Amino acid sequence: MNVQITLPKPHPGQQKVLDSKARFKVISAGRRFGKSLISQVISIIGIINAKHIAYVTPTYALSKIFFQDILKLIPVKLIKSANKTDLVITLITGGSLSFLTGERLDNFRGRKFHTVIIDEASYIPDLESAWLNSIRPTLTDYKGNALFISTPRGKNYFYALYNKGLNKEDGYESFHFTTYDNPHISADEIDLARLELPDAAFKQEYLAEPGENTNNPFGTQNIIDNTITTLSQKETKVIGIDLGKHNDYTVLCGLDEDGAMSYFERFKNPWSLTIERIKMLPSYCLKVVDSTGVGDAVFEQLSTTCHNITGFKFTSTSKPQIVMELVKDLELSKIKVNEVTANEMAVFEYKIQPSGHIKYEAQSGFHDDTVMALAMANHYLKQAALSNYAGWLY
Ligand SMILES: Nc1ncnc2c1ncn2[C@@H]1O[C@H](COP(=O)(O)OP(=O)(O)OP(=O)(O)O)[C@@H](O)[C@H]1O
Ligand SMILES: [Mg+2]
Repeated sequence: MNVQITLPKPHPGQQKVLDSKARFKVISAGRRFGKSLISQVISIIGIINAKHIAYVTPTYALSKIFFQDILKLIPVKLIKSANKTDLVITLITGGSLSFLTGERLDNFRGRKFHTVIIDEASYIPDLESAWLNSIRPTLTDYKGNALFISTPRGKNYFYALYNKGLNKEDGYESFHFTTYDNPHISADEIDLARLELPDAAFKQEYLAEPGENTNNPFGTQNIIDNTITTLSQKETKVIGIDLGKHNDYTVLCGLDEDGAMSYFERFKNPWSLTIERIKMLPSYCLKVVDSTGVGDAVFEQLSTTCHNITGFKFTSTSKPQIVMELVKDLELSKIKVNEVTANEMAVFEYKIQPSGHIKYEAQSGFHDDTVMALAMANHYLKQAALSNYAGWLY
């Protein structure tokens, strides 16, 4: 049977990977480099040549998307079966493509593959154990090969494998590409992202330079350099107030005119006591209250009696904006924080959404109320500096 198949032509960076004869290839590449596309092309070429291929993703949800993407690229005449639940495609050539996830490592048991492709490898939970105990044994029968392909995520096991390949040890070979290496992505767009992202995030996500501290937007060194052991004695100009909802802490972070932390309080109280506490704050400093959700009612109550107070609503636009301001100001050492805040900053993370939008939050199990209170205070301190805010005169 003569069947025509049209696959995207690999760009020069992708071609380098295809040309490599290494058994284990480690590709550290920026977002949108074309990691998934080259993985799909390798999968398709493999199954057409009657090979058994495994395509591994961090989550089942991602597997389902790639299953559909690849199915669209294969001529129907070649497909013997395509199981949407098990996510297995078999071809009449005898080749098979199994989608497996880092979430279900038991699914590797009893399987054997010619090639295993691990897409977004640095996002597989415990990649080291997954590779050594579950994935590597599936390559023994056929003396199969593997491709680890990912944007880096701190200096984790993927980074260790990358280093192994740099020295071409034990059959490994490594490749490094930035997003600029994809000729199908406009360089202007990438330049724009550079302006919108924390430096550490841009370097990791687009230049594929692993950060010191996984997805931390602040950067470990910046946090260390700007931590103070005693609060500033200067007058507090702005206090950011993150209200403790759902059993969280209420945090009050005050900054002096130089951006040094001069006031700090953290407590868990019933609303009535919290409101009384805020009312007692000095009237000369601007108080910025998180008025998102239930905070709105609290702010309403406060605004009738409190001097020099304003509300701030967290939205998917306003939150990244004020966090980004904080990140930039920390990079420029325009802000000094106490140790409690520094500790929260150290476990703060950014996540780039599939839409390209950035989301900030504490690592699961940690708090971010201090960082958010500080971000609000910093935002209004900047506004005040720009507009010579009348609140200074209260
Ligand atoms: N060789 C190619 N020919 C044409 N378009 C390409 C090629 N390689 C990549 N692209 C395009 O570049 C974009 C990014 O590709 P892809 O999704 O494979 O990148 P990625 O590195 O996996 O991205 P992400 O970091 O979001 O997972 C897509 O629009 C894809 O179609
Ligand atoms: Mg991808």
